[in-house]
Amino acid sequence: MYSTKLIYNLLLLQLVICVTYLIAVDTNNEDEITALPGLKDKLNFKQYSGYLNIPDGKHLFYWFVECETNPADAPVVLWLQGGPGGSSLFALFVENGPFSVDAAGKTLKLNPYSWNREVNMLYIEAPVGTGFSYKDDKNYFNNDTTSAADNRLALVEFFKKYPNLQKNPFYITGESYAGVYIPMLAQEILSTKTDINLKGIGIGNGALTGRDGTDQSVIDLLLGHGLVTIESYERKIEACCQCADGQPVNECVFAKPVNATKCKQAKLDQTDALNAYNIYDDCGGLNDAYLSSMYDQYHSSRFEALGIQTLQQSYSSSNNNKLICPQSGYSDYLNTPAVQLAIHARKPDKNQWYVCCGPYDFTHASTPQHDIVRELIDKYGLKRVTVYNGDFDIVCDFIDDQRFVDNLGYQRDGHYKEWTVDGKSDGIICGYVERYEKGLQFVLVRGSGHMVPKDKPEAALQVLKDLIGVVKL
Ligand SMILES: *[C@@H]1O[C@H](CO)[C@@H](O)[C@H](O)[C@H]1NC(C)=O
Ligand SMILES: *[C@@H]1O[C@H](CO)[C@@H](O)[C@H](O)[C@H]1NC(C)=O
Repeated sequence: MYSTKLIYNLLLLQLVICVTYLIAVDTNNEDEITALPGLKDKLNFKQYSGYLNIPDGKHLFYWFVECETNPADAPVVLWLQGGPGGSSLFALFVENGPFSVDAAGKTLKLNPYSWNREVNMLYIEAPVGTGFSYKDDKNYFNNDTTSAADNRLALVEFFKKYPNLQKNPFYITGESYAGVYIPMLAQEILSTKTDINLKGIGIGNGALTGRDGTDQSVIDLLLGHGLVTIESYERKIEACCQCADGQPVNECVFAKPVNATKCKQAKLDQTDALNAYNIYDDCGGLNDAYLSSMYDQYHSSRFEALGIQTLQQSYSSSNNNKLICPQSGYSDYLNTPAVQLAIHARKPDKNQWYVCCGPYDFTHASTPQHDIVRELIDKYGLKRVTVYNGDFDIVCDFIDDQRFVDNLGYQRDGHYKEWTVDGKSDGIICGYVERYEKGLQFVLVRGSGHMVPKDKPEAALQVLKDLIGVVKL
């Protein structure tokens, strides 16, 4: 009797020690976010944030959101925002992360189409100087090459913090200028034989062609949507697109016309000013610091060269009152001291966290990605390359990216076909997919602007599931 009780107690003690040990192991990570201001819901996943410290006194801020189910084996998916120098926390709060923020920047609401339903999501604010990321000596220099190198080093640090995830399939995703970051980071990982289980990349409305979008494809898209007159379109093409030797007829660069005066004089007759990020959305971009600063910094001169009136342009020049548009308070939220404390973020150098744009050397045009993507596929055997585009965007338009994929020179595999969410025949048609050999594909997302996970969250989640091989579009 007595000894049974003793054994029972001993076992119980052992169990307590064991459980305590397990908890200790689990909470050892000081980066765990234990509570978030403004969040009422109980979460069924864990999250971590803090810094990935790399050489030269660089500290990249990361936010890691575990998968809702089986995080130990789920793929790890990195998201890189565009800009360049845009914060990936924009995607976390506005596109594919677990929460959205109310207009006041106080309350968080769960996102039913968060990508962490399927995968472990890693958001890194890159390059250094973006968002909460910083450098000790504050002497910033980032370009396409240094960003790729730093991003790889940051990933190595990430897997040092989370060694149990090193074996998991790894994917790199992102949008816009991440069309440069993503292939170059993949190349950096593969060429240095870094111990990362890289399986594929997914690029949304990417800056892939290295021409900054001053292409004919932008006004071709407007013509296709009935937003410019035929007569003015033809006059514009004639005035601007005298073909230089060997230049394809459909790839006229409006920034460098043979006769600049003549090109400028030919005015497009378009409908009212358009939202460059989504031609059918009167709001997005006007009410958001990310989109307006990105526009001012990188896109205004492009659209001027093209002769296209945008809402962003008229907004910044006329200083109109903001339209009544849905607002996200992510910027106020991230500038709340209690939030910064909860996510282990340091106060940024300029005292304010801002979404766009961190320091970037833009004296050179962005690096064209054709050769790099071919190398990823042919030399390193990367198994999955998805280029997806919302078709209402003229910042990185789908025609240019579809042509980019087609020009890579791979065999088409089957015809251009429609896809749906989970293949339901009665489901909505989400868009079209063109498959090529060797795991390359172009995916069109119908009715979406520049930020696909924001405009078409359900479709975007499906594109992710296809990328990681859970479904086939
Ligand atoms: C980035 O800067 C480094 C250092 O100055 C230089 O070697 C490299 O060529 C630059 N890369 C690009 C794409 O301009
Ligand atoms: C450029 O176009 C303008 C306006 O059409 C014209 O007056 C001028 O002669 C052209 N210049 C050249 C070098 O062809």
